[in-house]
Amino acid sequence: MNVLVVGAGGREHALCWKLNDSQRVDRVLAAPGNGGTAREAVNWAVPDDDVAGLVALAKAENVGLVVVGPEAPLVLGLADALAREGIPCFGPCAYAAQLEGSKAFAKNVMRASGVPTADFAVFDEPEAARAYIRKKGAPLVVKADGLAAGKGVVVAASVDEALAAVDDMMVARSFGAAGARVVVEEALAGEEASFLAFCDGENFALLPSAQDHKAVFEGDTGPNTGGMGAYSPAPVLPEDRYAETAELVIRPILKHLKAAGHPFKGVLYAGLMFTAKGPMVLEYNVRFGDPECQPLLMRLDSDLVEILLACAEGRLTPELVQVKPETAICVVLAAPGYPGAYPKGMEISGLEALETGADALPGVKVFQAGTRADGGRTLSSGGRVLGVTALGATLAEAKARAYEAVARVHFDGCYFRRDIGDKGIARGKT
Ligand code: AMP
Ligand code: GLY
Repeated sequence: MNVLVVGAGGREHALCWKLNDSQRVDRVLAAPGNGGTAREAVNWAVPDDDVAGLVALAKAENVGLVVVGPEAPLVLGLADALAREGIPCFGPCAYAAQLEGSKAFAKNVMRASGVPTADFAVFDEPEAARAYIRKKGAPLVVKADGLAAGKGVVVAASVDEALAAVDDMMVARSFGAAGARVVVEEALAGEEASFLAFCDGENFALLPSAQDHKAVFEGDTGPNTGGMGAYSPAPVLPEDRYAETAELVIRPILKHLKAAGHPFKGVLYAGLMFTAKGPMVLEYNVRFGDPECQPLLMRLDSDLVEILLACAEGRLTPELVQVKPETAICVVLAAPGYPGAYPKGMEISGLEALETGADALPGVKVFQAGTRADGGRTLSSGGRVLGVTALGATLAEAKARAYEAVARVHFDGCYFRRDIGDKGIARGKT
């Protein structure tokens, strides 16, 4: 069968790479793709938010499964539009995608289904939000309701900071319509982890735990990014806790959405905070995390197409998802200045030279994110440029291997954190 991967990041490169392994796959197509997907698939110049264009492409190319990487097309109804054409889609309908598309929707679903989450209130008027903030006092978290590319969350240490966030989102409209409504919630403290499950509308199959590194600088300081690195498993959520955690944060959501008449098919991603009171949900995403997808797919020991089709067709079983025992880690190489303004068009070297390239190291795969192929060259085209990913018997070994590979890659101004995985390594020692 032909499979179409929608999106253009490191996650989508990893999806194309893994899909290519399947005996069932004839051709992999990517839309719009990047320099990495161009190696594993054929890129089609259809933007990821062009729902009609993507449906037309899937029909014209006889696509038997569409795999949606990012959230935007799901929120726009790509899965619904494909369903009307009878084309199987891995990714939820627009109603269920509101779990990510609207923070107020997600919080209300969590409250209604008994999922542990920070206490919160939703506001459509700045004055009411300000009054609530003054009453509650700091610290507080202010979140733009809609999609804001991971930037619409302010963890405010003071009342003034929270009030400024309200002005920025609701009055100045820094995130456009996404900030017309805000969620103000209690600030939680603890270590974070990502917990993802394949879902077929009713049943789920768990992926192992992972941990992202959202802050741009070492020691989790500086502004938030899309993610500077990730590893799996995350010792903060050990395997013997997966089942009970899923009953707490995955099963109730699937039940709720099925009862609402909009069963969730795709990856449900719970962003968790491990607090003194136990795990609490910070957010849901309705797709694979980027960069969590890269280490998770390095560890996946099953045919990805079989899993995704089983989700789309409502016949998922946990046995379909087999995972290698090794640890995997992904270190993101970013353009200088990211997540602020950054230059593009830098030439990338050291990727796949036969003996000296990063990909030549055993257990290493470089996934490309913000890149484009330019003849024989690979040029940077985004903020997060590469995700150097490695497997190892332990987290420390995977880390050493990943950074050995990082040292082989070069582009001007390349920036990366040197402490990816360190929280997990420290936890493993205690
Ligand atoms: P979100 O997009 O909701 O996951 O928020 C982005 C980041 O903001 C999270 O990964 C946390 O680091 C932080 N965050 C979100 N909600 C809270 C909260 N209630 N308490 C503390 N930190 C939070
Ligand atoms: N890595 C976090 C996310 O994909 O939202």
